[in-house]
Amino acid sequence: EAVAGLVVAMDGPSGSGKSSASRGVAKALGLRYLDTGAMYRAMTWWVLEQGVDPADTDAVAARAVEPEIVSGTDPDAPSIHVDGVDVAGPIRGARVTGAVSQVAAVPEVRARLVALQRQIIGDGGIVVEGRDIGTVVAPDATLKIYLTASAEARAQRRHAELSGGGAEATTVEAQQAELARRDKLDSTRKTDPLSLADGAIELDTTALDLEQVIAEVLRLVEERGGSA
Ligand code: DC
Repeated sequence: EAVAGLVVAMDGPSGSGKSSASRGVAKALGLRYLDTGAMYRAMTWWVLEQGVDPADTDAVAARAVEPEIVSGTDPDAPSIHVDGVDVAGPIRGARVTGAVSQVAAVPEVRARLVALQRQIIGDGGIVVEGRDIGTVVAPDATLKIYLTASAEARAQRRHAELSGGGAEATTVEAQQAELARRDKLDSTRKTDPLSLADGAIELDTTALDLEQVIAEVLRLVEERGGSA
């Protein structure tokens, strides 16, 4: 039962290792997994697809209720569909990545996606990653983790991820500049900026490998009575 009601909130900036760690923790505990960043990316993909200017806040706000966004919660096979279209690939591209912070800053977009996220969380049994999970989406989460890492480490990881995926060719320096740009937008926006939640445990992953991060989160879950 302990695991059924369990909600693990994993917040932090891009490249802090949230996705891999969150999926690893979910798999280890037999929990569901929700990537809220993928939902903001899916909304952004749809906005671009519709020919709406992502900088046009009023237009984005007015249309935010239209797309049907469906997130799978299997940590072994995360999936994301917009109006029935599989967008897992395109939401990782440069076009979406370049516009997502603008779209995620629109209050109507956040209201819609936060409501959807709470629906998916339901009675718990889930690891949820994002920027505002511990502060806004699930302030009563069993455990709130705030993952950080040095700017260099984050850029290295993002670069390795992109190169591995055979996506766009980039340099570590370009990644670091792009991460800095998004961090600034994500943490200075008016609605629900990235910030440390009350009761969140900060975990600096700069010197840790993935297995060590997962082990530490599992230890913290156990400490909270979540029986890892
Ligand atoms: O984690 P990510 O890089 O896939 O997130 C994509 C963008 O979405 C990021 O720039 C910030 C935004 N985001 C957000 O505002 N709130 C969340 N809960 C998750 C992501």
